Amino acid sequence: MSDERHRVALVGTGHRGAGMWGKELLAGWRDRAEFVAVCDVNELRASHARAEVGTNAPIFTDVDTMLAVAKPEIVIVCTRDDTHDEIIVKALEAGCRVITEKPMTTTPEKCRRILEAEIRTGRQIDVTFNYRFAPTAARIKQLLMENAIGTVTSVDFHWYLDTKHGADYFRRWHAYEKNSGSLFVHKSTHHFDLLNWYLDSTALEVSAFGTQRNYGRNGPFRGERCMTCAHTQECDFYLDIRKDPWLNTLYDEPAEVDGYFRDGCLYREDIDIPDTMTAMLRYENGVIVSYSLNTYMPIEGHHLAFNGTKGRIEIRQYERQAFETPDYDEILLMKNFGKVERIRVPHYSGGHFGGDDRLRDMLFRPGTPDPLGQRAGALAGAMSMLCGAAALASVKQGRPIKLKELGGLPDGIQI
Ligand SMILES: NC(=O)c1ccc[n+]([C@@H]2O[C@H](COP(=O)([O-])OP(=O)(O)OC[C@H]3O[C@@H](n4cnc5c(N)ncnc54)[C@H](O)[C@@H]3O)[C@@H](O)[C@H]2O)c1
Repeated sequence: MSDERHRVALVGTGHRGAGMWGKELLAGWRDRAEFVAVCDVNELRASHARAEVGTNAPIFTDVDTMLAVAKPEIVIVCTRDDTHDEIIVKALEAGCRVITEKPMTTTPEKCRRILEAEIRTGRQIDVTFNYRFAPTAARIKQLLMENAIGTVTSVDFHWYLDTKHGADYFRRWHAYEKNSGSLFVHKSTHHFDLLNWYLDSTALEVSAFGTQRNYGRNGPFRGERCMTCAHTQECDFYLDIRKDPWLNTLYDEPAEVDGYFRDGCLYREDIDIPDTMTAMLRYENGVIVSYSLNTYMPIEGHHLAFNGTKGRIEIRQYERQAFETPDYDEILLMKNFGKVERIRVPHYSGGHFGGDDRLRDMLFRPGTPDPLGQRAGALAGAMSMLCGAAALASVKQGRPIKLKELGGLPDGIQI
């Protein structure tokens, strides 16, 4: 990548697009990126987002027109998950480099289509797996690369979403498999990618369970959305988006255009995704993994342990807790017949404890070193997404699913 400022198009101007890839990108990387287009099917949201981002770039509501008129070099895709493939392929065909939000896509068919387009056009796709860039994840990766616990044989990985963050997925489009591929794809793509990256191996097979136990049809009452609901006094999940200026700007008035409410009822009876999930994975290098995702906890964070022939690496990572927590992470490095080392990693400021800034540096500052292999391309996007698709298929079919059964990779790429 050269040293000049890149002509960037932002597609999808919701919270992620307007924030991480809009306002924050211009705040820190203005010398590297200028917006030449802001694109969203909802013109009003695009217009509000453009004001928040602080750009005069023209607004488009159609990707084809945007590509033809604005001629961007880089297209950043921040739309609903199931629409990523269409936009990625069009951008690649137009000769652009693509930065796409995770999950890269939602089905094996779409995955294959994206990889084929990348091969055909020779253009590059980056998938924004920002968790790889969190300082604690980087330190763990370093320990694994140094073989600090011998050969890793199994992993315990449990992720907890709290009643704020977890609930948010059930208020909106994520709550339907056709939009998000379920949370096994939408959310777990981060976690499966971390596993794939940490273990430097390929998941071969997944066996999973998933149930809906708290949201959706489990609710004691329901409405259309919080703003018009009759149960605001009795509902623990009541949300008034007007109290949050950022959400209010991006979602309140723009909802008049497309009926997309940010505060949809999380007890809608047609919600069709699990909220309580477990999975077991088997890797090519012999590692076996026990994973879970829960979405209505009093805590936010994860518990991760690598079990090896010579010891164990363990971390309880706190994001938001119901109790006092330190402002650092502590990795426990335990040797089977040796001492315990406590490795403290400070919480840096910024999204994902500083990980989001490092990711933007990697993508927009040429020459940023990558000794840990944190930068993730389309194949990483595919493999983590396919783990989620296999988990969902396993839930539905009640049997272990081999990733190669899904047919999500082009001919010539073997699992
Ligand atoms: N990496 C992370 O930590 C992280 C965090 C949040 C969201 N995300 C990802 O970012 C993406 C956006 O999330 P969000 O919460 O901002 O969603 P959102 O629903 O708030 O915003 C998506 C926007 O895309 C627009 N859109 C939908 N289809 C479109 C199309 N075909 N063409 C143009 N615009 C279209 C919608 O009108 C909306 O404004 C998702 O893929 C999500 O998974 C990633």
